[in-house]
Amino acid sequence: MLDKLKGRFQNEFSDLRARDQNLKNLAASQQGDSEISTDDAAEAFLTLEGITKCFGSFKAVDDLNLAIRHGEVFALLGPSGCGKTTALRQIAGLDQPDAGVIRLRDTVLVSPADDVFVPPQHRNMGMVFQSYAIWPHLSVFEIIAYPLRVRRWAEADIDKAVREIIGQVGLSGMEERSSQTLSGGQQQRVALARALVYRPDVLLLDEPFSNLDVKLREQMRVELKLLQREVGVTVILVTHDQVEALSLSDRVAVMREGRVEQVGTPSQLYDEPASPFVRDFIGQTTSFPVRFQGAAAGGGFTAALPEGAGTLTCGRSRLDGTATDETVLACVRPERIKVSPAEGPPGANEVAATVKALLYHGDRYECWLMLAGREVMIFAPREPWIREGGTVHLQFPSEALSLWPR
Ligand SMILES: Nc1ncnc2c1ncn2[C@@H]1O[C@H](COP(=O)(O)OP(=O)(O)OP(=O)(O)O)[C@@H](O)[C@H]1O
Ligand SMILES: [Mg+2]
Repeated sequence: MLDKLKGRFQNEFSDLRARDQNLKNLAASQQGDSEISTDDAAEAFLTLEGITKCFGSFKAVDDLNLAIRHGEVFALLGPSGCGKTTALRQIAGLDQPDAGVIRLRDTVLVSPADDVFVPPQHRNMGMVFQSYAIWPHLSVFEIIAYPLRVRRWAEADIDKAVREIIGQVGLSGMEERSSQTLSGGQQQRVALARALVYRPDVLLLDEPFSNLDVKLREQMRVELKLLQREVGVTVILVTHDQVEALSLSDRVAVMREGRVEQVGTPSQLYDEPASPFVRDFIGQTTSFPVRFQGAAAGGGFTAALPEGAGTLTCGRSRLDGTATDETVLACVRPERIKVSPAEGPPGANEVAATVKALLYHGDRYECWLMLAGREVMIFAPREPWIREGGTVHLQFPSEALSLWPR
Protein backbone atom coordinates (compact mmCIF):
# COMPACT_ATOMS: atom_id res chain seq x y z
CA MET A 1 0.00 0.00 0.00
CA LEU A 2 2.83 2.36 0.86
CA ASP A 3 4.49 1.72 -2.50
CA LYS A 4 1.30 2.71 -4.25
CA LEU A 5 1.08 5.82 -2.16
CA LYS A 6 4.67 6.65 -3.00
CA GLY A 7 3.90 6.64 -6.71
CA ARG A 8 0.74 8.65 -6.33
CA PHE A 9 2.26 11.28 -4.12
CA GLN A 10 5.36 11.67 -6.23
CA ASN A 11 3.07 12.57 -9.13
CA GLU A 12 1.27 15.11 -7.02
CA PHE A 13 4.55 16.47 -5.76
CA SER A 14 4.56 19.86 -7.46
CA ASP A 15 0.91 20.55 -6.68
CA LEU A 16 1.41 19.72 -3.01
CA ARG A 17 4.40 21.98 -2.77
CA ALA A 18 2.63 24.86 -4.42
CA ARG A 19 -0.34 24.38 -2.15
CA ASP A 20 1.75 24.19 0.95
CA GLN A 21 3.68 27.33 0.05
CA ASN A 22 0.40 29.10 -0.53
CA LEU A 23 -0.93 28.00 2.82
CA LYS A 24 2.27 29.21 4.50
CA ASN A 25 2.05 32.57 2.74
CA LEU A 26 -1.54 32.71 3.73
CA ALA A 27 -0.85 32.06 7.39
CA ALA A 28 1.73 34.87 7.33
CA SER A 29 -0.62 37.30 5.60
CA GLN A 30 -3.52 36.45 7.87
CA GLN A 31 -1.75 37.21 11.15
CA GLY A 32 -3.89 39.47 13.26
CA ASP A 33 -7.12 38.79 11.44
CA SER A 34 -8.72 37.50 14.61
CA GLU A 35 -10.30 40.89 15.25
CA ILE A 36 -12.49 40.43 12.16
CA SER A 37 -15.76 39.06 13.44
CA THR A 38 -17.56 36.74 11.07
CA ASP A 39 -21.11 37.64 11.89
CA ASP A 40 -21.21 41.39 12.10
CA ALA A 41 -24.23 42.09 9.93
CA ALA A 42 -24.03 45.78 10.87
CA GLU A 43 -21.08 46.21 8.47
CA ALA A 44 -22.81 44.33 5.69
CA PHE A 45 -22.72 45.85 2.23
CA LEU A 46 -24.37 43.03 0.33
CA THR A 47 -26.67 40.71 2.23
CA LEU A 48 -28.41 37.49 1.32
CA GLU A 49 -31.21 36.42 3.62
CA GLY A 50 -32.78 33.00 3.26
CA ILE A 51 -32.01 32.73 -0.46
CA THR A 52 -33.44 29.51 -1.85
CA LYS A 53 -33.37 28.37 -5.47
CA CYS A 54 -35.02 25.15 -6.63
CA PHE A 55 -34.82 23.30 -9.92
CA GLY A 56 -37.95 21.20 -9.82
CA SER A 57 -37.99 19.65 -6.37
CA PHE A 58 -34.19 19.93 -6.02
CA LYS A 59 -32.89 22.75 -3.81
CA ALA A 60 -29.66 23.90 -5.51
CA VAL A 61 -29.37 26.75 -2.97
CA ASP A 62 -31.04 26.19 0.37
CA ASP A 63 -31.66 29.06 2.81
CA LEU A 64 -28.41 30.91 2.09
CA ASN A 65 -27.54 33.71 4.52
CA LEU A 66 -24.47 35.87 3.88
CA ALA A 67 -23.34 39.33 4.96
CA ILE A 68 -20.56 40.59 2.68
CA ARG A 69 -18.61 43.70 3.67
CA HIS A 70 -17.62 46.65 1.55
CA GLY A 71 -14.20 46.23 -0.04
CA GLU A 72 -13.64 42.62 0.97
CA VAL A 73 -12.86 39.62 -1.17
CA PHE A 74 -15.40 37.00 -0.22
CA ALA A 75 -15.19 33.47 -1.62
CA LEU A 76 -17.85 30.83 -2.05
CA LEU A 77 -15.88 27.61 -1.81
CA GLY A 78 -17.20 24.10 -2.13
CA PRO A 79 -17.20 20.91 -4.17
CA SER A 80 -18.69 20.69 -7.64
CA GLY A 81 -22.47 20.94 -7.65
CA CYS A 82 -22.81 22.51 -4.18
CA GLY A 83 -24.62 25.56 -5.58
CA LYS A 84 -21.89 28.21 -5.90
CA THR A 85 -22.71 29.32 -9.45
CA THR A 86 -26.43 29.20 -8.68
CA ALA A 87 -25.85 31.48 -5.68
CA LEU A 88 -23.78 33.90 -7.79
CA ARG A 89 -26.44 34.00 -10.50
CA GLN A 90 -29.03 35.10 -7.92
CA ILE A 91 -26.70 37.93 -6.82
CA ALA A 92 -26.05 38.99 -10.42
CA GLY A 93 -29.75 38.87 -11.27
CA LEU A 94 -29.26 36.29 -14.03
CA ASP A 95 -31.79 34.14 -12.19
CA GLN A 96 -34.57 34.75 -9.69
CA PRO A 97 -34.61 32.93 -6.35
CA ASP A 98 -37.74 31.20 -5.12
CA ALA A 99 -37.45 32.80 -1.71
CA GLY A 100 -35.30 35.22 0.25
CA VAL A 101 -34.04 38.78 -0.02
CA ILE A 102 -30.82 40.22 -1.50
CA ARG A 103 -29.85 43.76 -0.51
CA LEU A 104 -27.07 46.04 -1.72
CA ARG A 105 -26.63 48.73 0.95
CA ASP A 106 -30.28 49.66 1.67
CA THR A 107 -31.63 48.74 -1.75
CA VAL A 108 -33.56 45.52 -2.13
CA LEU A 109 -32.34 43.86 -5.34
CA VAL A 110 -34.67 40.92 -5.19
CA SER A 111 -37.47 39.76 -2.94
CA PRO A 112 -40.01 37.37 -4.50
CA ALA A 113 -42.35 37.86 -1.53
CA ASP A 114 -42.55 41.60 -2.32
CA ASP A 115 -42.44 41.13 -6.07
CA VAL A 116 -39.15 43.06 -6.31
CA PHE A 117 -36.58 42.21 -8.98
CA VAL A 118 -33.89 44.62 -10.13
CA PRO A 119 -32.62 43.43 -13.54
CA PRO A 120 -28.90 42.65 -13.88
CA GLN A 121 -28.06 45.78 -15.92
CA HIS A 122 -29.30 47.95 -13.06
CA ARG A 123 -27.34 46.21 -10.30
CA ASN A 124 -23.96 47.82 -11.10
CA MET A 125 -22.08 44.55 -10.79
CA GLY A 126 -19.17 43.40 -12.95
CA MET A 127 -18.89 39.75 -13.90
CA VAL A 128 -16.16 37.45 -15.13
CA PHE A 129 -16.96 33.83 -15.81
CA GLN A 130 -14.84 30.80 -16.53
CA SER A 131 -15.67 30.95 -20.23
CA TYR A 132 -14.88 34.63 -20.59
CA ALA A 133 -16.72 35.68 -23.70
CA ILE A 134 -14.69 38.43 -25.33
CA TRP A 135 -15.69 39.17 -28.87
CA PRO A 136 -12.98 38.21 -31.35
CA HIS A 137 -13.76 40.87 -33.96
CA LEU A 138 -13.13 43.85 -31.67
CA SER A 139 -9.96 45.53 -30.48
CA VAL A 140 -8.95 45.37 -26.81
CA PHE A 141 -9.96 49.03 -26.45
CA GLU A 142 -13.41 48.48 -27.95
CA ILE A 143 -14.14 45.35 -25.91
CA ILE A 144 -13.38 47.22 -22.70
CA ALA A 145 -15.23 50.34 -23.85
CA TYR A 146 -18.38 48.39 -24.71
CA PRO A 147 -20.09 48.58 -21.27
CA LEU A 148 -19.50 52.35 -21.26
CA ARG A 149 -21.01 52.78 -24.74
CA VAL A 150 -24.07 50.84 -23.56
CA ARG A 151 -24.26 53.28 -20.66
CA ARG A 152 -23.94 56.19 -23.13
CA TRP A 153 -20.85 57.70 -21.59
CA ALA A 154 -19.29 60.71 -23.38
CA GLU A 155 -16.40 59.82 -25.73
CA ALA A 156 -13.80 61.70 -23.68
CA ASP A 157 -14.87 59.93 -20.48
CA ILE A 158 -14.77 56.55 -22.22
CA ASP A 159 -11.25 57.21 -23.48
CA LYS A 160 -10.03 58.22 -20.02
CA ALA A 161 -11.70 55.33 -18.15
CA VAL A 162 -10.60 52.66 -20.65
CA ARG A 163 -6.98 53.84 -20.73
CA GLU A 164 -6.87 53.93 -16.94
CA ILE A 165 -8.18 50.40 -16.44
CA ILE A 166 -5.98 49.09 -19.28
CA GLY A 167 -3.01 50.43 -17.33
CA GLN A 168 -4.25 48.89 -14.10
CA VAL A 169 -4.63 45.40 -15.58
CA GLY A 170 -1.22 45.63 -17.29
CA LEU A 171 -2.34 45.80 -20.93
CA SER A 172 -0.92 49.21 -21.87
CA GLY A 173 0.22 49.27 -25.50
CA MET A 174 -2.25 46.55 -26.53
CA GLU A 175 -5.25 48.86 -27.04
CA GLU A 176 -5.50 48.24 -30.79
CA ARG A 177 -4.70 44.53 -30.74
CA SER A 178 -7.44 42.14 -31.80
CA SER A 179 -8.45 39.85 -28.95
CA GLN A 180 -7.72 36.85 -31.21
CA THR A 181 -4.01 37.63 -30.93
CA LEU A 182 -3.99 37.58 -27.11
CA SER A 183 -2.81 34.80 -24.79
CA GLY A 184 -5.19 33.21 -22.30
CA GLY A 185 -3.88 35.35 -19.46
CA GLN A 186 -4.16 38.53 -21.53
CA GLN A 187 -7.73 37.63 -22.52
CA GLN A 188 -8.55 37.12 -18.86
CA ARG A 189 -7.14 40.59 -18.11
CA VAL A 190 -9.35 42.05 -20.85
CA ALA A 191 -12.36 40.34 -19.27
CA LEU A 192 -11.40 41.78 -15.86
CA ALA A 193 -10.92 45.25 -17.32
CA ARG A 194 -14.27 45.10 -19.08
CA ALA A 195 -15.95 44.09 -15.80
CA LEU A 196 -14.23 46.86 -13.83
CA VAL A 197 -14.25 49.79 -16.28
CA TYR A 198 -17.58 51.23 -15.11
CA ARG A 199 -16.48 50.99 -11.46
CA PRO A 200 -19.04 48.43 -10.31
CA ASP A 201 -20.06 48.13 -6.65
CA VAL A 202 -19.33 44.42 -6.74
CA LEU A 203 -17.16 42.22 -8.97
CA LEU A 204 -18.48 38.68 -9.37
CA LEU A 205 -15.94 36.06 -10.42
CA ASP A 206 -16.96 32.49 -11.22
CA GLU A 207 -13.92 30.21 -11.47
CA PRO A 208 -12.18 32.97 -13.43
CA PHE A 209 -8.84 31.24 -13.81
CA SER A 210 -9.80 27.61 -14.29
CA ASN A 211 -9.07 27.74 -18.03
CA LEU A 212 -5.49 28.84 -17.41
CA ASP A 213 -2.50 26.58 -16.77
CA VAL A 214 -1.13 26.21 -13.23
CA LYS A 215 1.66 28.79 -13.54
CA LEU A 216 -0.54 31.40 -15.13
CA ARG A 217 -3.27 30.76 -12.59
CA GLU A 218 -0.84 31.48 -9.76
CA GLN A 219 0.32 34.66 -11.49
CA MET A 220 -3.25 35.85 -12.13
CA ARG A 221 -4.07 35.21 -8.48
CA VAL A 222 -1.40 37.64 -7.35
CA GLU A 223 -2.38 40.16 -10.01
CA LEU A 224 -6.02 40.01 -9.01
CA LYS A 225 -5.14 40.52 -5.37
CA LEU A 226 -3.05 43.62 -6.18
CA LEU A 227 -5.65 44.96 -8.60
CA GLN A 228 -8.44 44.50 -6.06
CA ARG A 229 -6.45 46.44 -3.46
CA GLU A 230 -5.78 49.23 -5.93
CA VAL A 231 -9.37 49.49 -7.18
CA GLY A 232 -10.97 48.72 -3.78
CA VAL A 233 -13.92 46.87 -5.30
CA THR A 234 -15.90 44.30 -3.31
CA VAL A 235 -15.29 40.88 -4.86
CA ILE A 236 -17.31 37.68 -4.64
CA LEU A 237 -15.22 34.82 -5.92
CA VAL A 238 -16.66 31.41 -6.69
CA THR A 239 -14.21 28.55 -6.72
CA HIS A 240 -13.82 24.88 -5.86
CA ASP A 241 -10.07 25.42 -5.43
CA GLN A 242 -9.20 25.87 -1.77
CA VAL A 243 -5.82 27.47 -2.46
CA GLU A 244 -7.48 30.07 -4.69
CA ALA A 245 -10.11 30.79 -2.05
CA LEU A 246 -7.73 30.88 0.91
CA SER A 247 -4.98 32.87 -0.76
CA LEU A 248 -7.22 35.54 -2.32
CA SER A 249 -9.99 36.07 0.17
CA ASP A 250 -10.56 38.02 3.35
CA ARG A 251 -13.35 35.61 4.24
CA VAL A 252 -14.64 32.37 2.83
CA ALA A 253 -18.01 30.63 3.00
CA VAL A 254 -17.61 26.88 2.67
CA MET A 255 -20.70 25.48 0.93
CA ARG A 256 -22.06 21.98 0.88
CA GLU A 257 -25.25 20.79 -0.81
CA GLY A 258 -26.69 24.27 -1.24
CA ARG A 259 -26.01 25.39 2.32
CA VAL A 260 -23.24 27.27 4.10
CA GLU A 261 -21.21 24.99 6.32
CA GLN A 262 -18.94 27.68 7.82
CA VAL A 263 -17.99 31.32 7.21
CA GLY A 264 -14.64 32.56 8.44
CA THR A 265 -11.26 34.00 7.65
CA PRO A 266 -8.92 31.57 5.90
CA SER A 267 -7.01 30.95 9.12
CA GLN A 268 -10.21 30.40 11.11
CA LEU A 269 -11.30 27.78 8.60
CA TYR A 270 -7.90 26.14 8.59
CA ASP A 271 -7.22 26.20 12.33
CA GLU A 272 -10.74 25.95 13.72
CA PRO A 273 -12.92 24.05 11.25
CA ALA A 274 -16.47 23.80 12.56
CA SER A 275 -17.27 20.44 11.00
CA PRO A 276 -15.49 17.34 9.67
CA PHE A 277 -16.51 18.44 6.17
CA VAL A 278 -14.67 21.78 6.46
CA ARG A 279 -11.73 20.12 8.21
CA ASP A 280 -11.27 17.59 5.41
CA PHE A 281 -12.12 19.94 2.52
CA ILE A 282 -9.50 22.51 3.54
CA GLY A 283 -5.89 21.42 3.87
CA GLN A 284 -4.63 18.06 5.04
CA THR A 285 -5.40 16.40 8.34
CA THR A 286 -3.52 13.66 10.15
CA SER A 287 -5.97 11.70 12.26
CA PHE A 288 -5.77 8.62 14.43
CA PRO A 289 -8.09 6.90 16.92
CA VAL A 290 -7.66 7.56 20.65
CA ARG A 291 -9.71 6.80 23.74
CA PHE A 292 -11.26 9.85 25.40
CA GLN A 293 -10.21 10.22 29.05
CA GLY A 294 -11.92 13.49 30.07
CA ALA A 295 -10.72 16.97 31.02
CA ALA A 296 -6.97 17.37 31.64
CA ALA A 297 -5.76 18.90 34.92
CA GLY A 298 -3.96 21.86 33.27
CA GLY A 299 -6.67 22.56 30.66
CA GLY A 300 -7.67 20.71 27.51
CA PHE A 301 -8.54 17.02 27.34
CA THR A 302 -6.68 13.77 27.84
CA ALA A 303 -6.74 11.01 25.23
CA ALA A 304 -5.07 7.60 25.37
CA LEU A 305 -3.33 6.15 22.32
CA PRO A 306 -4.00 2.50 21.48
CA GLU A 307 -1.51 -0.26 22.34
CA GLY A 308 -0.48 1.55 25.55
CA ALA A 309 1.54 4.02 23.47
CA GLY A 310 0.91 6.82 25.97
CA THR A 311 -1.48 9.70 26.46
CA LEU A 312 -1.87 13.06 24.73
CA THR A 313 -3.28 16.36 25.94
CA CYS A 314 -5.54 17.87 23.28
CA GLY A 315 -6.27 21.59 23.34
CA ARG A 316 -9.65 21.47 21.63
CA SER A 317 -12.58 19.16 21.54
CA ARG A 318 -15.48 18.95 19.12
CA LEU A 319 -16.99 16.13 21.17
CA ASP A 320 -20.34 16.37 22.81
CA GLY A 321 -21.34 14.09 25.70
CA THR A 322 -18.59 11.56 25.01
CA ALA A 323 -18.13 8.86 27.64
CA THR A 324 -14.76 8.02 29.18
CA ASP A 325 -12.88 5.36 27.19
CA GLU A 326 -15.01 5.95 24.08
CA THR A 327 -12.93 5.81 20.91
CA VAL A 328 -12.73 9.18 19.14
CA LEU A 329 -10.44 10.79 16.54
CA ALA A 330 -7.44 12.96 17.37
CA CYS A 331 -6.78 15.38 14.48
CA VAL A 332 -3.81 17.62 13.72
CA ARG A 333 -2.50 19.49 10.67
CA PRO A 334 0.56 17.48 9.59
CA GLU A 335 2.91 20.48 9.58
CA ARG A 336 2.22 21.06 13.28
CA ILE A 337 3.76 17.72 14.33
CA LYS A 338 7.40 18.08 15.41
CA VAL A 339 9.78 15.26 14.70
CA SER A 340 12.98 14.67 16.68
CA PRO A 341 15.56 11.86 17.10
CA ALA A 342 14.40 9.00 19.36
CA GLU A 343 16.84 9.63 22.22
CA GLY A 344 15.68 8.65 25.71
CA PRO A 345 12.04 8.17 26.68
CA PRO A 346 9.42 10.33 24.92
CA GLY A 347 8.52 13.60 26.73
CA ALA A 348 5.14 15.23 27.28
CA ASN A 349 2.75 14.82 24.33
CA GLU A 350 5.50 12.90 22.58
CA VAL A 351 5.24 9.43 21.05
CA ALA A 352 7.72 7.05 19.42
CA ALA A 353 6.89 6.07 15.83
CA THR A 354 8.48 3.92 13.14
CA VAL A 355 9.25 5.45 9.73
CA LYS A 356 7.69 3.33 6.98
CA ALA A 357 8.25 5.48 3.90
CA LEU A 358 9.96 8.75 3.00
CA LEU A 359 8.75 10.63 -0.06
CA TYR A 360 11.24 13.23 -1.22
CA HIS A 361 9.67 16.66 -1.79
CA GLY A 362 12.86 18.64 -2.42
CA ASP A 363 12.66 20.94 0.58
CA ARG A 364 11.39 18.24 2.98
CA TYR A 365 10.05 14.73 3.24
CA GLU A 366 6.51 13.53 3.23
CA CYS A 367 6.98 10.94 5.93
CA TRP A 368 4.67 7.98 6.55
CA LEU A 369 4.93 6.46 10.00
CA MET A 370 3.39 3.73 12.13
CA LEU A 371 1.96 5.38 15.22
CA ALA A 372 0.34 3.02 17.75
CA GLY A 373 -0.59 0.58 14.97
CA ARG A 374 -1.84 3.28 12.54
CA GLU A 375 -0.30 4.79 9.42
CA VAL A 376 -0.01 8.56 9.71
CA MET A 377 1.60 11.19 7.47
CA ILE A 378 3.71 14.15 8.57
CA PHE A 379 6.04 16.60 6.85
CA ALA A 380 9.60 16.08 8.09
CA PRO A 381 12.82 18.04 7.57
CA ARG A 382 15.59 16.49 5.48
CA GLU A 383 17.63 15.11 8.37
CA PRO A 384 20.00 12.13 8.18
CA TRP A 385 18.48 10.60 11.33
CA ILE A 386 15.13 10.22 9.59
CA ARG A 387 15.32 7.02 7.56
CA GLU A 388 12.98 4.26 6.50
CA GLY A 389 12.78 1.56 9.19
CA GLY A 390 14.12 3.89 11.90
CA THR A 391 12.32 5.24 14.97
CA VAL A 392 11.66 8.92 15.70
CA HIS A 393 9.81 10.88 18.32
CA LEU A 394 6.71 12.84 17.34
CA GLN A 395 5.72 15.78 19.47
CA PHE A 396 2.12 17.00 19.25
CA PRO A 397 1.64 20.57 20.53
CA SER A 398 -1.55 20.31 22.58
CA GLU A 399 -3.02 23.49 21.03
CA ALA A 400 -2.72 21.88 17.58
CA LEU A 401 -4.58 18.71 18.59
CA SER A 402 -8.36 18.49 18.47
CA LEU A 403 -10.75 15.67 19.30
CA TRP A 404 -13.62 14.78 16.96
CA PRO A 405 -16.34 12.14 16.97
CA ARG A 406 -15.25 9.09 15.03
N1 LIG B 1 -30.71 25.28 -14.78
C1 LIG B 1 -30.62 24.20 -14.01
N2 LIG B 1 -31.54 23.22 -14.08
C2 LIG B 1 -31.48 22.12 -13.28
N3 LIG B 1 -30.51 21.91 -12.38
C3 LIG B 1 -29.55 22.85 -12.27
C4 LIG B 1 -29.55 24.03 -13.08
N4 LIG B 1 -28.48 24.77 -12.74
C5 LIG B 1 -27.83 24.10 -11.76
N5 LIG B 1 -28.47 22.94 -11.48
C6 LIG B 1 -28.07 21.95 -10.48
O1 LIG B 1 -27.90 22.63 -9.25
C7 LIG B 1 -26.77 22.13 -8.55
C8 LIG B 1 -25.82 23.24 -8.26
O2 LIG B 1 -25.25 23.69 -9.48
P1 LIG B 1 -24.15 24.83 -9.54
O3 LIG B 1 -23.84 25.08 -10.97
O4 LIG B 1 -24.61 25.98 -8.73
O5 LIG B 1 -22.93 24.11 -8.81
P2 LIG B 1 -21.44 24.65 -8.56
O6 LIG B 1 -21.22 24.63 -7.09
O7 LIG B 1 -21.25 25.93 -9.27
O8 LIG B 1 -20.58 23.48 -9.20
P3 LIG B 1 -19.21 23.56 -10.09
O9 LIG B 1 -18.08 23.71 -9.11
O10 LIG B 1 -19.19 22.23 -10.76
O11 LIG B 1 -19.33 24.70 -11.04
C9 LIG B 1 -26.20 21.02 -9.43
O12 LIG B 1 -26.67 19.80 -8.97
C10 LIG B 1 -26.73 21.35 -10.81
O13 LIG B 1 -26.86 20.18 -11.58
MG1 LIG C 1 -20.08 26.51 -10.91
